[in-house]
Amino acid sequence: MAYRSGVNLQEVEPQAELYVPEPARIVKVEPQTAKEKLFEVELTSGRALGHGPGQFVQVFVPGIGEAPISLCSYRPGCSSFQLCVRNVGTVTAALHGLRPGALIGLRGPLGKGFAMDEIKGHDLLIVGGGIGLVPLRGVVQAILAERDQYGRVIILAGFKSPEEILFRSELEQWEQREDIEFAITIDRPHPGWGGHVGVITTLFPELRLDAPNTRALVVGPPIMYRFVITECRLKGLADESIILSLERRMRCGVGKCGHCQINNKYCCLDGPVFKYSELKFMWEAI
Ligand SMILES: Cc1cc2nc3c(=O)[nH]c(=O)nc-3n(C[C@H](O)[C@H](O)[C@H](O)COP(=O)(O)OP(=O)(O)OC[C@H]3O[C@@H](n4cnc5c(N)ncnc54)[C@H](O)[C@@H]3O)c2cc1C
Ligand code: FES
Repeated sequence: MAYRSGVNLQEVEPQAELYVPEPARIVKVEPQTAKEKLFEVELTSGRALGHGPGQFVQVFVPGIGEAPISLCSYRPGCSSFQLCVRNVGTVTAALHGLRPGALIGLRGPLGKGFAMDEIKGHDLLIVGGGIGLVPLRGVVQAILAERDQYGRVIILAGFKSPEEILFRSELEQWEQREDIEFAITIDRPHPGWGGHVGVITTLFPELRLDAPNTRALVVGPPIMYRFVITECRLKGLADESIILSLERRMRCGVGKCGHCQINNKYCCLDGPVFKYSELKFMWEAI
């Protein structure tokens, strides 16, 4: 492709295709809470996205803009995938206004997700706070697809209140499984809630872990990280065994613009999933 001046666009921007969204269709929309909706999406080409747990896509709403959203399902062989979106601003509100059949654009899958091959064979402590459970749901689905490849699977989920609980029916299924140890908590007492009350770290004292063999996968609001990391270290987990997914404001999503830079790392390209050992000397990371 050439500009009128005769300049070859491929030479100017050899990776221009990185910025071109691929058409996708919303197949299903399911309200989750007052703020979050679950979208089932497929590429109009029928191509499977081929993502791994923890990766994300840049979602483009025509005429509005783009936002990075985690891929929250892991169903190899299925052409559609799911995105759970909290309505917080311009792009996410526009997405919430769309119905099945609507066309959007997608770039991705982007970023480095959870290295499932590295955590195979280990006990897993999965800690999800609020919307942090979104990328972890894909991880749990991947684990359950090959359950015998992992040791103990402990899932701790924390929400502010019962109204904010995501993926309710799936969490109930996890709770009933004998091959998962599952605990859920809400931050403050709530009428009608008979379960555990307290922030997610209040679930730690009961935990008995085989620390050298345990990998912790932690995603949640920024405030949660420091406290959960402290608890994991008190349980004896090594810094390289604590794995986190970070959220940063992004633009390009492909390591070009610098918007998501944390010290010498690009959250979009080197992450969003990092080992704590990679981040612990970067005061601005967590
Ligand atoms: C790798 C990654 C994965 C993500 N996955 C999900 C997901 O699965 N589901 C989901 O709902 N959201 C997810 N997010 C967050 C989502 O990208 C933002 O909420 C979204 O970009 C907001 O866009 P907007 O145009 O709707 O809001 P805007 O109109 O841009 O902003 C609304 C408000 O939110 C603030 N804000 C926007 N983005 C961020 C941010 N990244 N960090 C801090 N403050 C911000 C703005 O300052 C403003 O106050 C993810 C972010 C990243 C980086
Ligand atoms: S968003 Fe542009 S470098 Fe990460």
